[in-house]
Amino acid sequence: MAEKEKLAVELCMGSSCFARGNSTALGYVESYIEENGLADRIELGGHLCIGECNNGPHIRIGDKEYSGITDPDCVIDIIKKALEEQDA
Ligand code: FES
Repeated sequence: MAEKEKLAVELCMGSSCFARGNSTALGYVESYIEENGLADRIELGGHLCIGECNNGPHIRIGDKEYSGITDPDCVIDIIKKALEEQDA
Protein backbone atom coordinates (compact mmCIF):
# COMPACT_ATOMS: atom_id res chain seq x y z
CA MET A 1 0.00 0.00 0.00
CA ALA A 2 1.33 3.43 -0.92
CA GLU A 3 2.22 5.70 1.93
CA LYS A 4 0.00 8.70 2.39
CA GLU A 5 1.51 12.11 1.97
CA LYS A 6 2.18 13.70 5.32
CA LEU A 7 -0.08 16.52 6.39
CA ALA A 8 2.00 19.69 6.67
CA VAL A 9 1.19 21.67 9.81
CA GLU A 10 3.05 24.96 10.00
CA LEU A 11 2.69 27.46 12.81
CA CYS A 12 3.88 31.01 12.46
CA MET A 13 6.85 31.40 14.77
CA GLY A 14 6.99 35.16 14.41
CA SER A 15 7.00 36.94 17.76
CA SER A 16 3.44 38.26 17.50
CA CYS A 17 1.78 34.97 16.55
CA PHE A 18 4.00 33.04 18.93
CA ALA A 19 3.05 35.26 21.87
CA ARG A 20 -0.63 35.32 20.99
CA GLY A 21 -1.19 31.59 20.92
CA ASN A 22 1.17 29.63 18.73
CA SER A 23 3.59 28.93 21.56
CA THR A 24 0.78 27.07 23.36
CA ALA A 25 -0.53 25.57 20.12
CA LEU A 26 2.93 24.16 19.38
CA GLY A 27 2.90 22.17 22.63
CA TYR A 28 -0.66 20.99 21.97
CA VAL A 29 0.22 19.78 18.48
CA GLU A 30 3.40 18.03 19.66
CA SER A 31 1.43 16.23 22.39
CA TYR A 32 -1.36 15.36 19.98
CA ILE A 33 1.11 13.82 17.53
CA GLU A 34 2.86 11.84 20.26
CA GLU A 35 -0.26 10.63 22.08
CA ASN A 36 -1.90 9.48 18.86
CA GLY A 37 1.17 8.02 17.15
CA LEU A 38 0.83 10.42 14.23
CA ALA A 39 4.50 11.13 13.57
CA ASP A 40 4.19 9.33 10.23
CA ARG A 41 1.09 11.33 9.27
CA ILE A 42 1.98 14.88 10.28
CA GLU A 43 4.96 17.03 9.35
CA LEU A 44 5.15 19.75 11.99
CA GLY A 45 7.05 22.88 11.14
CA GLY A 46 7.11 26.58 11.54
CA HIS A 47 7.35 29.60 9.33
CA LEU A 48 8.54 33.13 9.77
CA CYS A 49 6.33 36.19 10.06
CA ILE A 50 4.39 36.72 6.85
CA GLY A 51 3.29 40.25 7.70
CA GLU A 52 -0.20 39.22 8.80
CA CYS A 53 0.43 39.81 12.49
CA ASN A 54 -2.75 41.85 12.93
CA ASN A 55 -4.79 38.82 11.91
CA GLY A 56 -2.72 36.27 13.84
CA PRO A 57 -2.04 33.81 15.19
CA HIS A 58 -1.47 32.42 11.74
CA ILE A 59 -1.26 28.73 10.85
CA ARG A 60 -1.06 26.67 7.69
CA ILE A 61 -2.48 23.17 7.53
CA GLY A 62 -2.09 21.33 4.28
CA ASP A 63 -2.77 23.87 1.56
CA LYS A 64 -5.07 26.01 3.71
CA GLU A 65 -4.26 29.14 5.67
CA TYR A 66 -5.93 30.08 8.94
CA SER A 67 -5.82 33.34 10.84
CA GLY A 68 -6.91 34.45 14.28
CA ILE A 69 -6.70 30.97 15.80
CA THR A 70 -6.26 32.01 19.42
CA ASP A 71 -7.65 28.76 20.86
CA PRO A 72 -5.08 25.93 20.57
CA ASP A 73 -7.90 23.39 20.76
CA CYS A 74 -9.13 24.77 17.43
CA VAL A 75 -5.77 23.93 15.88
CA ILE A 76 -6.22 20.30 16.94
CA ASP A 77 -9.78 20.27 15.59
CA ILE A 78 -8.59 21.59 12.22
CA ILE A 79 -5.83 18.97 12.09
CA LYS A 80 -8.29 16.16 12.90
CA LYS A 81 -10.60 17.34 10.14
CA ALA A 82 -7.74 17.58 7.64
CA LEU A 83 -6.61 14.04 8.50
CA GLU A 84 -10.18 12.79 8.05
CA GLU A 85 -10.31 14.46 4.65
CA GLN A 86 -7.03 12.74 3.72
CA ASP A 87 -8.51 9.40 4.75
CA ALA A 88 -11.77 9.91 2.85
S1 FES B 1 4.18 37.06 13.55
FE1 FES B 1 2.86 35.72 12.49
S2 FES B 1 2.28 36.89 10.77
FE2 FES B 1 3.64 38.16 11.81
